[in-house]
Amino acid sequence: MSSEQIDLLRERALRDLEEASSLEALAEWHARYLGRRGEITLRLRGLGSLPAEERPRVGRALNELKETLEAAYEERERVVRQLELAARMQAEAVDVTLPGRRPAIGTLHPVTQMIREVTDIFAHLGFQVVEGPEVEYGYYAFDALNIPPEHPARDVWDTIFIESDRKEIVLRPHTSPMQIRVMERRKPPIRVVVPGRCYRYEAVDATHEWHFHQIEGLAVDEHITMADLKGTLAEFARQLFGRERRVRFRCDFFPFVEPGVDFAIDCMFCRGEGCRVCGGSGWIEILGAGMVHPQVLRNVGYDPGRYTGWAFGMGVERLVMLKYGVPDIRYFYQGDLRFLAQFDRIPV
Ligand code: DAH
Repeated sequence: MSSEQIDLLRERALRDLEEASSLEALAEWHARYLGRRGEITLRLRGLGSLPAEERPRVGRALNELKETLEAAYEERERVVRQLELAARMQAEAVDVTLPGRRPAIGTLHPVTQMIREVTDIFAHLGFQVVEGPEVEYGYYAFDALNIPPEHPARDVWDTIFIESDRKEIVLRPHTSPMQIRVMERRKPPIRVVVPGRCYRYEAVDATHEWHFHQIEGLAVDEHITMADLKGTLAEFARQLFGRERRVRFRCDFFPFVEPGVDFAIDCMFCRGEGCRVCGGSGWIEILGAGMVHPQVLRNVGYDPGRYTGWAFGMGVERLVMLKYGVPDIRYFYQGDLRFLAQFDRIPV
């Protein structure tokens, strides 16, 4: 092998090395020239077949070439590694000046918000918030509330029964049973509000859901009068619907109160003129209430000669519908975020 041939081999190897611009290409180059079956390696191995007088010269030249190439290879590898790192940094660069992506944070359901708003108002008036079971005995849902079996008033609450053969068990159709549970457990003075889910066997339409929420209220003590009921409910309505609200109490019938009333406010959309929301009457009924029936007090062992009380019950969805002009109760339980996201005033 002449020294020209070795020079040519060196030039070719170095040129190829210069062209290898990835670690992969470098590995290929190394295998081709310096690997176990590489050109230099094979030539060194073939020295033995050369004439004896050529061996020292060619051997020295090949070994020099091998060292040169190995050094060049190491240098090139260092450069390629740096190039690859630079390319990766470029590709994976993060622009820290870009504005962040806002995570989608949920909002409290409008019914939850309304329950909090209402119970807050009553809490500031001295009422405690308590909750009761959604699966309830017929005794608490009806009998103890002065609605005996076979009484026609029992039909007013289109009840979903869980067990009707022996001991009646129902999904509570209103929150009133908690009046009894609270009075059974405590002695007056009592001031509680009870938010909770209710269920009725109901054909669903724009104003009826088979599942909805109520907030019950109960105040019992000595010397409680209808004036307390009027004052408290008027203050509540004005805090929720505006200080300028006028209020109206009219006679109504509920078996567990006597007298019973329906409580209305002047329509905040037309200010009493008459519009679509108030059905032209100028008034909007927001709850039922009354003085606790003496029989109900007796049913929990209270002496109606000593204690008197008043109670109320209202539908939460209805309050939201009135306050925000929601036209259909079915929106509440369809899980449509376009509807729900509109109620994001109150921070979670
Ligand atoms: N429980 C009644 C209903 O579901 C609402 C109600 C009326 C509750 C008068 C009361 C009340 O506490 O005094 O329709």
